[in-house]
Amino acid sequence: MTQTPSGSVDSLDGSRWSGVHRGPLAEGEWVRLTDAKGRRHNICLEAGKSFHTNRGGIEHDELIGREEGFSITSTSGGEYLVFRPLLSEFVVSMPRGAAVVYPKDAAQIVAMADIFPGARVVEAGAGSGALTCSLLRAVGPTGRVSSYERREEFADVARRNVTQFFGGDHPAWQLTIGDLVHELPKGEEPGSVDRIVLDMLAPWECIDVAADALTAGGIVISYVATTSQLGKVCETLRAHGEFTEPQPWETLVRDWHVEGLAIRPGHKMNGHTGFLVTSRRMAPGNAAPRKKRRPAPGAYGVDYSGPRPVDLPPESFAETLDS
Ligand SMILES: C[S@@+](CC[C@H](N)C(=O)[O-])C[C@H]1O[C@@H](n2cnc3c(N)ncnc32)[C@H](O)[C@@H]1O
Repeated sequence: MTQTPSGSVDSLDGSRWSGVHRGPLAEGEWVRLTDAKGRRHNICLEAGKSFHTNRGGIEHDELIGREEGFSITSTSGGEYLVFRPLLSEFVVSMPRGAAVVYPKDAAQIVAMADIFPGARVVEAGAGSGALTCSLLRAVGPTGRVSSYERREEFADVARRNVTQFFGGDHPAWQLTIGDLVHELPKGEEPGSVDRIVLDMLAPWECIDVAADALTAGGIVISYVATTSQLGKVCETLRAHGEFTEPQPWETLVRDWHVEGLAIRPGHKMNGHTGFLVTSRRMAPGNAAPRKKRRPAPGAYGVDYSGPRPVDLPPESFAETLDS
C-alpha cells in the first residue's frame, strides 16, 4: 500500500485520483486565498515562503498543517479565506493555451454524454485540459480517457494542468499529439469506444472516424461556439446515416441575489458559451430511423450547400425550389 500526498491510503481511499485532498494542508499543495472583495490568488505551499499581497504578507508556514476553511489576516490587516480550490475553480484559474470548456458546460457534457465510471472515452482537442479533468474524474482510475491534441504547445499546457490537478500522472489518461482524424484509427480498436467528445473548430471532419471507433449505442457529443458550426455538425451526423437524430441545446446559468426581502436575479449573467449536440451510434449496418416531420420550407433549398440527410424525401427539394 502506498501513502498518498494527502496522507490517505491508496487501496482503501476511493477519492485517490479524484483531485480532492483531505486532511491538513501540506507542503506542495495548491490553496486558494480569497479577499473580502472576492479577488482570488492560488498559491503552492512551500515551507519558509511568504505570499505578498497589497495588504502585507502571509507566511506559508501559517497555513501548512491547518485544516482548510479558515480565514487569515495578512501583516497589514487584509483578511483572506483559505480553501483548496474546487475543480470548477481550478479550471477557470489555471494557465491556458486554448479556450477552456467552462464548468457549466463540462457538467452538461458529463451528464448528457452519460460519462460513467470505467468508461472508455475519447476527447479532442485536449486544449488546456479543463474538460479532461472532468472526464477523468467521471471515469475514475478504472476507465480510460484518450485525449488527442494536434498542437504540441497546447498538449504541454494540458499535461501540466491535468497533472497538477490530480497530483500526479492519472492512471486512466493517455494523451496523443496529432490530428484526431489520423490518430484515432491507429489508437482505438473499431467499435471499442463508449463516448467521444469533440471540442474543436471542425468536429464534422471527425464524424466518420468517430463512427468507426464508437461501440453500438455509444455517444458522440460536440461542443461548438457558433450556429454555422452547429448546423454543419448536425447535418454531417444525419448524412452519415448510422447516427440517431442529433439533439442540440445550450444552457444559460443565472445567479440570484437573496437578501431579506430582496430576492431577484443577479445583474450579471454568463452570456453565450457554446452549443452542445449529442447523437448515438446505431449498430453498424443499421440505418437511423427516418425523421417523422418533413424539413422546414427552405431548409435544404437552392441556397443550402452543406451535407444533406441520407433520407431526404425528393419532394422536399422540389418544394423548397418552388417556394
Ligand atoms: C477549444 S480547444 C479545447 C479546449 C479543451 N476542451 C479544454 O477544456 O481545455 C480546441 C482544441 O482542439 C484542437 N484541435 C482542433 N482540431 C483538432 C483535431 N482534428 N485533432 C486534434 N486536436 C484538434 C486545437 O488545437 C485546440 O487546442
